Amino acid sequence: MKSFMSVSKTVFGTLADGRVVDLYTIQNASGASVSIQTLGGGIQSIFVPDRSGKMGDVVLGFDEPQPYTDPDLGYQGLLVGPVANRIKAHSFTIDGVTYDLPNNQGSWTLHSGGRFSFNLWQAEISGENSVTVSFSSPDGEDGFPGDFKMQVKYTFTDDNTLRLDYTAACTKKTFVNLTNHAYFNLSGRAGETIENHDLMIAADYCTETDADQLTTGKLLPVAGTPMDFTTLHKIGDKIDEPYAQMIDGIGYDNNYCLRKNGRTFALCARVEEETSGRTMEVFTDLPGVQLYCGGWLAKSGNPGKASNGAVTYRRGLALETQFYPDTPHHENFPPALLQPGEVFTSATEFRFGVRS
Ligand code: BGC
Repeated sequence: MKSFMSVSKTVFGTLADGRVVDLYTIQNASGASVSIQTLGGGIQSIFVPDRSGKMGDVVLGFDEPQPYTDPDLGYQGLLVGPVANRIKAHSFTIDGVTYDLPNNQGSWTLHSGGRFSFNLWQAEISGENSVTVSFSSPDGEDGFPGDFKMQVKYTFTDDNTLRLDYTAACTKKTFVNLTNHAYFNLSGRAGETIENHDLMIAADYCTETDADQLTTGKLLPVAGTPMDFTTLHKIGDKIDEPYAQMIDGIGYDNNYCLRKNGRTFALCARVEEETSGRTMEVFTDLPGVQLYCGGWLAKSGNPGKASNGAVTYRRGLALETQFYPDTPHHENFPPALLQPGEVFTSATEFRFGVRS
């Protein structure tokens, strides 16, 4: 098939401090497209067809850059680094040296304090269907060790697969846990929550969390609990059940331990939305995925895009591929230490399709 792939660059908008945010749009032969913004190197839109071929935007977000920088609006589509999720007591110790990190929530660090997500990234068109974004963080910034460089190559194919190739390197030994925080709503319409989406996660265990949603180090079997997504079923079926692991996240906000072996690249999750017929499969080489259904988002009042509506309670479904949260404090978790001189690589794919 002849391909008419194209990548174009436009201005997305201006932040309150005057900085200009660019938008790179990769369009494939069928007219489906993905837009990447330089703020947080984030995914701003993904237009893919429904079962009748009509394009719809399947990620939540905003029509201007400024709201993306508000942590209470949930890191919509943004990249997160160097260490995603929560770090207990906002510090970690490596080789006897304790690093004091941002205390941006409760008594812990969330998403490393957010500087990677809420700042501008360098971007370049890196191929006929790819855009590469990069961010550098100097030694000691926000307390993190070493000069840290992170890069993500976004590739969007003619068969509607969005692939994220992550690379990172640091001049000192450090922990690494990189993710993208897109919230999907496959209906492509305003108003609908994700409770009617069907979900399967290829995981038999999740990491137990305490009342602060910090991992305890224990793995809990999901069988026989409302956390069990081993077979495809509606997210709304059991989201309000009074199960201890789901109360603190107001629904699902949990890390699943993927069944696949270690760093093998394999199927992680499948999502289906009945009315549009859209489907999404997530593949990753990472050992975990955070299922977060936007339980912390306000029920009203938040802005959103004209294409698919407000960024509110349960309107989006995040599947953040990751190492288990807080690896620095749990030696039994799969290791996420990056040595100086080493290049960390990882890949995640979001494969969009339709069902009858
Ligand atoms: C966390 C949530 C948090 C959200 C937005 C997710 O990764 O698990 O608890 O509200 O990010 O910051």
